[in-house]
Amino acid sequence: MARMVILTGAGISAESGLPTFRDPKGLWARFDPMDLATPEAFERDPAQVQAFYNDRRAAARAAQPNPAHLALAQLQRARPGEVLLVTQNVDDLHERAGSTDVVHVHGRLDEARCNSCAHRWPAPARMAAGDRCPACRSGLARPSVVWFGEVPEHLDEVAEACARCDLLVVIGSSGTVWPVAGLVDIAARAGAQTIEINLDPSVRAGAFDRVLAGPASVRVSEWVAQVLDGPFNL
Ligand code: OAD
Repeated sequence: MARMVILTGAGISAESGLPTFRDPKGLWARFDPMDLATPEAFERDPAQVQAFYNDRRAAARAAQPNPAHLALAQLQRARPGEVLLVTQNVDDLHERAGSTDVVHVHGRLDEARCNSCAHRWPAPARMAAGDRCPACRSGLARPSVVWFGEVPEHLDEVAEACARCDLLVVIGSSGTVWPVAGLVDIAARAGAQTIEINLDPSVRAGAFDRVLAGPASVRVSEWVAQVLDGPFNL
């Protein structure tokens, strides 16, 4: 039984119409993340931060999974218990494609959480600056996403899976945001095979055994077909 870890980034949702962060038309080319995606920005101007994430939540809800999301769900169904799907994405396109047990290391847009207690709850379509936590009634409600300066979620579990896997595949990520960008080093040190699937080789391409360049909808579908076609031999 093979152990695969698949790690996805914004590039996998690009063909569903959701912008990436660092491409020329990406979110961080248009907006300064320090104004929108830090705890300090939320303290300074919660209305601006909520408006940004309200727009992103609406865009994610309107988007549909593309063939890359669907291929990964197919792989998980065909290899039950063998595939840990980890995403840096805050959309739910993997789940809507049929994937189960998706680990969101950078949080999710469809969840809200309290800025002071640990309570989490389903996010409404639009969150407002003055919304309070329904549990403690005093903390401010915030999007349940990981901001710059905050620690990614489930990191220990994911790093452990990378240290035990036979294969790590990273899809649609620029490899610039740490510590997630360093997971390939953990897998490689442990002797796993490593593959990057990206539109163009990323800055971390040299850390992988193989790079499959091209759009995720095509390359991921091809790669999954190959895996399902033959023995686990990559
Ligand atoms: P980036 O925007 O940094 O990188 C997206 C990558 O996807 C780039 O290397 C693109 O070349 C590639 N790409 C674009 N279209 C593609 C396609 N159709 N098929 C395949 N690849 C494609 O996004 P991430 O690496 O996910 O964090 O960004 C990491 C984190 O930075 C995000 O989770 C977010 C952001 O700040 C937080 O908000 C905490």
